[in-house]
Amino acid sequence: MTRTRPMQPLVAGNWKMNPTARSDALMLARAAAATAARHQAVTTVICPPTVFLAEVAAEVGPSRLAVGAQTMAAEERGAFTGETSPLMLAGLAGFVIVGHSERRANDGETDEGVAAKVASAVAHGIRPIAAIGERIEERRAGRTEEVVDRQLHAAVSRLEAIHGSGLVIAYEPVWAIGSGEAASPADAQVVAARIRELLGTVDADAAPQVPILYGGSVTGDNARAFFDCPDIDGALVGGGSLDAASFEAIVAAAEAAAAHRRTPSAEATRS
Ligand code: 13P
Repeated sequence: MTRTRPMQPLVAGNWKMNPTARSDALMLARAAAATAARHQAVTTVICPPTVFLAEVAAEVGPSRLAVGAQTMAAEERGAFTGETSPLMLAGLAGFVIVGHSERRANDGETDEGVAAKVASAVAHGIRPIAAIGERIEERRAGRTEEVVDRQLHAAVSRLEAIHGSGLVIAYEPVWAIGSGEAASPADAQVVAARIRELLGTVDADAAPQVPILYGGSVTGDNARAFFDCPDIDGALVGGGSLDAASFEAIVAAAEAAAAHRRTPSAEATRS
């Protein structure tokens, strides 16, 4: 069955705890804004550290570049030391990464917490990028599907509907993150297809339109092979988003893949 793709491929840069200097963050943001302007067929997002979010948003202004947060609290206010309220992010961040494996591993983020955050983000008009993926020992034990199923079901469990939620799913096998060892596009496609199938059991009409991203050691060199997979609509990029040229190469690859899909015959002689 052929599916209608989401309107645009989506490439999001997760800067994690980088860069440490404000001036470097603003420089990187300006470069990403230029990239987004040059590749308007791609939804380009950067997720800077929270402390830089407001200044980065002001720096890029109303541009083609969207700004996202790396996490947020599900609650609106109160005694949550160190946390950021969705009310503080609304109007500043169009997206928020939820359930990143680093937060699951280091900060006690649970499936239940992810469910609450996804629902809260949607309720506040912020598009959640829900990150899911198996650890190496789970993959080796043949448990990838079980883990992904569990995390995905949890992530959407408190949504009233997927349609209109703006939900984005990022499949990030934990072992591929920052390792320089990306999943094979074929393996990533198998999991992405599974994710879409599961989304279809929740909302058959909306599932084809949910952007599913691959994340884990994406580079300018390997990105295109992921974007050519039928169920992969973009990337969540860590290290590769900290270098302006490599981020641009990944965004350009997404644009080229989308153009190729629109006019396959025109590029048939490419290879
Ligand atoms: P790397 O691209 O550095 O592997 O990180 C991926 C990631 O965790 C994005 O959220």
